[in-house]
Amino acid sequence: MAKKKDKKAKSKDKASKKAKTAKKLVLKVVAKKANGNGLPKVSKKAWGEDGKALDGVKILDFTHVQSGPTCTQLLAWFGADVIKVERPGTGDITRGQLMDVPGADSLYFTMLNHNKRSITLDSKSKEGMKVLERLVKTCDVLVENFAPGALDRMGLTWEHIHALNPRMIVASVKGFGPGPYEDCKVYENVAQCAGGAASTTGFHDGIPLVTGAQIGDSGTGLHLALGIVSALYQRKRTGRGQRVLASMQDGVLNLCRVKLRDQQRLAHGPLKEYTQYGEGIPFGDATPRAGNDSGGGQPGVILKCKGWETDPNAYIYFITQAPVWEKICDLIGEPEWKTHPDYAKPPARLPRLKAIFERIEQWTMTKSKFDVMNECNALDIPVGPILSMKELAEEPSLRHTGTIVEVDHPKRGKYLSVGNPIKLSDSISEVKRSPLLGEHTDEILTKVLKFTPREIAEIKASGATGEAPKAQAAE
Ligand code: COA
Repeated sequence: MAKKKDKKAKSKDKASKKAKTAKKLVLKVVAKKANGNGLPKVSKKAWGEDGKALDGVKILDFTHVQSGPTCTQLLAWFGADVIKVERPGTGDITRGQLMDVPGADSLYFTMLNHNKRSITLDSKSKEGMKVLERLVKTCDVLVENFAPGALDRMGLTWEHIHALNPRMIVASVKGFGPGPYEDCKVYENVAQCAGGAASTTGFHDGIPLVTGAQIGDSGTGLHLALGIVSALYQRKRTGRGQRVLASMQDGVLNLCRVKLRDQQRLAHGPLKEYTQYGEGIPFGDATPRAGNDSGGGQPGVILKCKGWETDPNAYIYFITQAPVWEKICDLIGEPEWKTHPDYAKPPARLPRLKAIFERIEQWTMTKSKFDVMNECNALDIPVGPILSMKELAEEPSLRHTGTIVEVDHPKRGKYLSVGNPIKLSDSISEVKRSPLLGEHTDEILTKVLKFTPREIAEIKASGATGEAPKAQAAE
């Protein structure tokens, strides 16, 4: 009996020793990896040389036209492996839209699909679906912006995707969120109209206007990208994917937030910073179009500069920011306005804004927009020259930061594009040319999806991938 007890105590001792050693080992490993505060060790590699923010993230890119491709292009710039699935023969419809160089993918396509790989697949064929399902199992995120219901009609319902890969994030752009318009197809300008941008853009006595900035398409793509990285972050904790929806109406409305602000302010009286207030024009019951009035609390308008008669962009945006009002008075040669009761304080100026800006314009018309910019900036007066696309394309500082980049394409040669506008100091974005249609079909089937040569032969013989061109030697 005593022997038995002895044995038991000895084995207990052994077990506790073992546990202690294991604990020490774990601590040692943690200490090796950790930074002393539980955080991972700081990289020994130089800034920008330790990979990219989204390295290792695989995206099944089922997007087309502009909104979805904007999102996946951003993710690709941050290092995600973006595999664009396109219909054999035609691919993304924009490849052939607004073509400028015969036989080459359009700028519409190339400027929205950098850093991606292209595989052609007929998703409506049996073999095509087999490949798609393998992609679903392999990738982290599926991004799509088909018309409502199209993904379900293909057989890729959320339930099916989730069953195949519970970690997959399914991200969609749709025109509208759930509600009366959820089944509608939507393009950029439809979203601008439905999201409140058009009713608040233009002059109060003119028709609604859409803006050149693609706030419906590219704006919603940006919103979606944020949803995706947030879902990826949450997945670290939950281990499961989720659905991400960015509707274009919601995205535009989010960007028009200040106009909904004004809608509510209207209930408490006229919007005094709007030019129409100074002109004595009554307000209706909805936020009016504000012309070029500033959207903030500081009155601002677009003024003519030297050369405006012939140059459509010889204008400057001028803001009469209250703290620099006295400097503005000196600059335009009206020093007495600094103390005059009609001009000295912002509320007194509000009903006289038209006349005040006319006087400032007399001054700006004597100078080029760049001279106005230089003189005002030296005095901390906020102004903005109206820059043309030509001027932006030629601006050296934008080239220097990689916001404007020159890209080489095997079929169209060199072209300009807008690079990643979001700069990360430790995740450097290189802009690589867009893929040719189906350029990476073989590579993806073999290296990413690990199909055997026999399976690949079957898939190809079925016509599911169409004809893929050989990769070009130009790069
Ligand atoms: N193989 C086979 N079929 C494919 C395919 C592939 N690889 N890729 C797409 N298709 C099919 C779809 O399954 C769909 O078929 P179905 O209608 O029979 O189900 C069809 O192609 C067309 O898709 P759809 O999205 O309806 O294209 P569209 O050109 O008619 O509409 C939009 C374009 C942009 C109006 C629409 O996609 C949409 O409203 N998208 C959501 C909002 C959006 O992103 N708009 C902005 C675009 S910049």
